[in-house]
Amino acid sequence: MTFDAPSLSALAEEAKAWRRTIHQHPELLFDLPKTAALVTQKLTEFGCDDVVGGIAKSGVVAVIKGKNGPGRTIALRCDMDALPMAEQTNLPYASKVENMMHACGHDGHTAMLLAAARRLAETRDFAGKVVLVFQPAEEGGGGGRLMIEEGLLERFGIEEVYGMHNEPGLAVGSFATRSGPVMAGGDRFVITIIGKGGHAASPHLSHDPVVAMGHMITALQTIASRFTDPLDSVVLSLTYVEAGSDRALNVIPAAVRIGGTIRTMQPKTRAAVEARFRDVVTMTAKLFSAEAEIDWRPGYPVTVNDPEKTKLAAAAARTVAGAANVDDDHPQTMGSEDFSYMLEKRPGAFIWLGNGDSADLHNPAYDFNDDAIVHGLRYWLALVQQRLGKTTAD
Ligand code: NI
Repeated sequence: MTFDAPSLSALAEEAKAWRRTIHQHPELLFDLPKTAALVTQKLTEFGCDDVVGGIAKSGVVAVIKGKNGPGRTIALRCDMDALPMAEQTNLPYASKVENMMHACGHDGHTAMLLAAARRLAETRDFAGKVVLVFQPAEEGGGGGRLMIEEGLLERFGIEEVYGMHNEPGLAVGSFATRSGPVMAGGDRFVITIIGKGGHAASPHLSHDPVVAMGHMITALQTIASRFTDPLDSVVLSLTYVEAGSDRALNVIPAAVRIGGTIRTMQPKTRAAVEARFRDVVTMTAKLFSAEAEIDWRPGYPVTVNDPEKTKLAAAAARTVAGAANVDDDHPQTMGSEDFSYMLEKRPGAFIWLGNGDSADLHNPAYDFNDDAIVHGLRYWLALVQQRLGKTTAD
C-alpha cells in the first residue's frame, strides 16, 4: 500500500460525494456530457494509463496496468445513464434536472467503479490489465452494443467481462448471481393488420381487421401456453391496441394496430418464439382475408453468465461478504440488461449488489444506497485479485 492511499471506507466516503454529484445532474442515453467529463477527469487524476473518451459517443474507457508483469486483461463495466422521469425523493441532493432522474442506481455504479479505478491505479498489485468501461445508454439505447460494434473488445484486448447492478430488496452487504441465463431477452413489436373497411351493417363486403385482431390476440397467447416447454420462461404481453374511432361506430376500419413485448430466457427459445410469432400473425390475418405487417424491434439479448466465471465472481464476493451473504443460485428475472451484448462475445459474470430496503428500480422514490458503495468497491477489488493475482485490500 502506498503511504497516502486512503482506507477503503474513506475512499467509499469520497465516492459517496461523487455519487451525489452525479445524482444531481442526471443525463440520458448517449447524451452524457457532464457525467462523461466527470468520469474522464477523475480517471485522469487517478493516473490511469489510458483514458479514452468518445467510445459509443459518450462512453469512457480507462486502462490500468498491473505492476506484476503481463497477464490477462479483464473488463469491469458500469453504466452511466439516467431515466426520463420526475424524481420524488425530497432528498437534499435530488435531481436538478426536470423529468430526469437516476432511478436505476447508475450514479452509484459509476461512483463505485471510479473508486475501484483510483485504488487499482494506486496499488497496481496485480498482473495483466484492468479495463474500466463506463458505458452510455443502458436504458434502452443499446450503448453496450455500440461499444462492441466500435471495437471495444479488440481494441483493448479484453478477454473477460464483469458487470454489477444494485438490487432493491437484497440486504446491503449481500451479493447474488447465477450461472447461465440470468436476465431475459426482450423484443418488441407492432403489428398492422390491413383488411378492407366498410359499412358496419355489411360486414360481408369488408375484410374486418377488428375480428382478425381479436383472434390474433388470443392466438398469440398460445405461443407461451401451448408452444413453449412449461419449464422454460416466455412472457408475451400485448400492451397497445388501436382500431377505428368512437365517432364512427358504424364503420369497419380498414386497418388496426397491436403491439407489445416478448421476453425469453434462452437464446434458442428467443429465435423459436420469434418464428412462431411471425407464423401466428401471418396465418391468423390470412384466415380473415387480411394482411399483416410486422414491425419487429429487437431488444437486448438474454444475459448469460459463464458458469466458470460465475463461480469465480461468487468466490470473490464471498471474500468480501462472507459465504452466508452470497447467493450463487439467485432466481432469474424477466428484466433485460444490455451487458448481455458483452457476455455474448466474452465469458464473464453479472452480479447483483444489495441495495437494502429501498424503493424499486425505475420508481420515482428510488435512491441508490450509499452504504452499498464500500461493498461494491471491495467486490471489484476482490475480483481483480481473484483473476489477476494479488491486489491490496484492507
Ligand atoms: Ni439499471
